[in-house]
Amino acid sequence: MSATTATQIRQLFLDFFQAHGHTVVRSSPLVPQDPTLLFTNAGMVQFKDVFTGKQALGFTRAASSQKCVRAGGKHNDLDNVGRTARHHTFFEMLGNFSFGAYFKVEAITLACKLLFDELHMPKDRLMFTVFRGEDGIPADDEARRLWRGIANLPDDRILGLGKKDNFWMMGDTGPQGPCSERHFHQGDDLPCDEVQNGRPCLGPACDCDRWLEIWNLVFMQFERKEPGGPLTPLPAPSIDTGAGLERMAAVVQGKRSNYDTDLFTPLLHQVSEACHRPYTASDGDDDMSMRVLADHCRATAFLIADGVLPSNLGRGYVMRSIMRRAIRHAVRLSLPAGFFATLCGGVADLMGEAYPELRSARSLIAKAVNAEDEGFRATIDRGLRLIAETKWEDRGGRRVMPGKVAFQLHDTFGFPLDLTQVIGREQGFSVDEAGFGEEMKKQRERSKFTGSGDQAVGDVYKKLRGETGPTQFTGYGQKDGASGTGKVLALVFPGGETGKRAEAGQEVDLIADRTPFYGRSGGQIGDTGRIYRYQGLLGPAGVAGPAGVAGPAGVAGPAGVSGPAEIAGPAGVSGPAGIAGPAEVLGPAGVAGELEVLDTWKPVADLFVHRCRVLAGEVSVGDEVRLEVDDERRGSIRRNHSATHLLHHALRAVLGEHVTQKGSYVGPDKLTFDFSHFSPLSREERLQVERRVNQAVLRNAEQHMEEKDFDEARTLGALALFGEKYGDRVRVLRLGESVELCGGTHVWRTGDIGLFKLIGESGLAQGVRRITAVTGNGALDLVEKMDGELSAAAELLRSGPLEVAERIGKIQEDLKAREKEIGALKQRLLYGGGGGGDGHGPGAFSEERTIAGEKVVARRLNDADMKALRDVAEGMREKLGAGVLALGAVAEGKVALVVAVRKDLAQAGRWNAGKIIGQLAPLVGGKGGGKPELAQAGGSLPDQLDQALSHLFALLSE
Ligand code: SER
Repeated sequence: MSATTATQIRQLFLDFFQAHGHTVVRSSPLVPQDPTLLFTNAGMVQFKDVFTGKQALGFTRAASSQKCVRAGGKHNDLDNVGRTARHHTFFEMLGNFSFGAYFKVEAITLACKLLFDELHMPKDRLMFTVFRGEDGIPADDEARRLWRGIANLPDDRILGLGKKDNFWMMGDTGPQGPCSERHFHQGDDLPCDEVQNGRPCLGPACDCDRWLEIWNLVFMQFERKEPGGPLTPLPAPSIDTGAGLERMAAVVQGKRSNYDTDLFTPLLHQVSEACHRPYTASDGDDDMSMRVLADHCRATAFLIADGVLPSNLGRGYVMRSIMRRAIRHAVRLSLPAGFFATLCGGVADLMGEAYPELRSARSLIAKAVNAEDEGFRATIDRGLRLIAETKWEDRGGRRVMPGKVAFQLHDTFGFPLDLTQVIGREQGFSVDEAGFGEEMKKQRERSKFTGSGDQAVGDVYKKLRGETGPTQFTGYGQKDGASGTGKVLALVFPGGETGKRAEAGQEVDLIADRTPFYGRSGGQIGDTGRIYRYQGLLGPAGVAGPAGVAGPAGVAGPAGVSGPAEIAGPAGVSGPAGIAGPAEVLGPAGVAGELEVLDTWKPVADLFVHRCRVLAGEVSVGDEVRLEVDDERRGSIRRNHSATHLLHHALRAVLGEHVTQKGSYVGPDKLTFDFSHFSPLSREERLQVERRVNQAVLRNAEQHMEEKDFDEARTLGALALFGEKYGDRVRVLRLGESVELCGGTHVWRTGDIGLFKLIGESGLAQGVRRITAVTGNGALDLVEKMDGELSAAAELLRSGPLEVAERIGKIQEDLKAREKEIGALKQRLLYGGGGGGDGHGPGAFSEERTIAGEKVVARRLNDADMKALRDVAEGMREKLGAGVLALGAVAEGKVALVVAVRKDLAQAGRWNAGKIIGQLAPLVGGKGGGKPELAQAGGSLPDQLDQALSHLFALLSE
């Protein structure tokens, strides 16, 4: 065979399709833009909108090697990984795609050429499946005919299967169609459950390893727009194919297990060396643990590189399950903490050439994996303790762990089932798998993945976007970015009703053909302002600006961004004089409608929606309007947005390259910036970060903005938020040393930011920190406020403002010394002897006697309430070496009485504080009670207190 290593096979596949007119597209990230998917799970995911006709790419044939994760969600292979030869959490899917360019004939022809002429696969070891029809969808006889004709196959090598095997869909919605798979015969000597049970192996339809599916060919014909909705035909029949590189490599390299290919052997070798145990490719527990590690390190490294961090929610939860499963297996193999991070680094070595993002994320991978490793190892011990304390079920003399316990281990301690089972084999118990399954089912119900939380997109906007096309955003320009004219294309009322006209007092969502209003996205909030409709002057004619202004079709991100100045409309309105405001141009009389814009957002890509309240007059679809952004507010937003870029850059410089953006909020009031980092920032680090940002502000660098293809932008080293994909047009923003992809609005020079002040730093989730900061006026306000506070404090302290800390330090020292002194005095007051001169005042009662060999003390204290008596009673009893102590005091005319009995005396039943107090309390006109060791009573006869105290001796002598 011409290609032998996995790298060569990957390249051969891509080269082959490139030679057949396909554009090679790089893999999209594992976190898809599609909110209905947990992870990218097939090569076609990034082309979903191309299949359905919503996006055009400029080519109709593509090929890729796509990073995929199938764990959690619909395609969940996690529990099988390590046990079988062919299941993985992470894998690479080779695919060729036709977006209406060709369909079955060419797809099957190309597949045959690649399999037989290029990879030289033995035809007699392959079988082909086709859709046999189900649920009213007809059988794919055409595919059967084509395989027979093109591949020259006898009919018995083509198997018809039902929907489960031969109808492919991405998720509950999206493009789909019948498919046809190629299966490779690995040999009938491999075990098969069917055969073991006396039935024949089902061949390609069987779950066993005798037949290995190597390549799926989907004839994309339909789309399902809503879950459970009808199938509608795609605009053009298309092709989506997927071949797992790991399986291809196994077949080409003559291996029966993917783990024996060169994609995994270096990783297995690394594990085996480190744990000093041989890898023997067996079903034994050690070998399984090694396979789990060799698989999971790939998913871990790739997911972190694509921005996922372990957490308790959604994607982060699945990621955490994968990591913990790996770490527990590392512990099983006696591998130390830190090993798993090293192994994940091994993935970056092995695959960094094909996937450079692994290299850039190296330090983040190491930090994130080590944090999870250390955290999880701490809980493992607690899990093992839970196992030790398990109440076993007894099934015929065998110890069985109840499903609930196995689930608790899984859920609370992160022990996957198979690990508990391995421990079970070691310790001699089995697990109630059915019970565990029940609990898992309940949990899945509780935590169903319902999309990534994206705002539900009203159908009305989806439909409108189809009708109106993209909105042209005109808000980037320095001179004309805050106002412009546009034509009203649609009005949507609360509840989703569209209408033609809105009047004063009504709330309405307004969509125009172009707008300077920024639609909330990328963390930046939406613009507010005013929209005016004029009478007369701004009639429909000649206003809309040149028709051709809208950006090139298919451009993602705000299209046609840097529109020429004349976009703003006819000279009479937007000329220099006109900019000054509507009143000057038209006079108030000319305004026929005025709307307040409360917010602007994009419910569908490129559709800008202004949420408005009609303040006066009216507005109708078709009207030409003038749109005026609240530019002062926008100015604050601009400053905050640019500052987040400088902050991001400063954080990477101060803390390290592992810092990546995890989210942000950019408003007029403040900015927050979330980023990956694993410990709180020290005071010194915060200072350094703030200083760096302010130095960048002072350097007053000019903003440079360029629009580029995403792939080109990446080569500039631009920091990107994840989610961009091939074909996207992106804006590359340079601010001094910071280069980022960003569609937001920014300052023209960094000096415009004025001043940057960090106001908070906190933890958001494990490994994610948040910085809150202010700029411009916000920073000035803050400084003023701080200055005011400082001056006020200085005045109170009678010091200069810069000596406040020193003064406070002194005062605190002073205070501490006094507190100490007061404490000592209090002690003396309470513990000191009775009688005059000891601080208790003259005549205070204090007496002690020995009764039945025990010292008994009764004492009256001054100025003590019940709590104080209770607090000191036992301590004082001990200090005085008394068996029984009675304390009394009068505070605010009320009597408090406490009795303490030494523990051994109380336990032996010799004296009982509760009973004693019961006898003494009536003497002071009260009632009391408590425990044998300590009891209390209140009373209303202060004059009787001494008498009550002295009664103690009589009582105990009885
Ligand atoms: N989407 C199909 C699959 O994942 C073919 O690429 O099998």
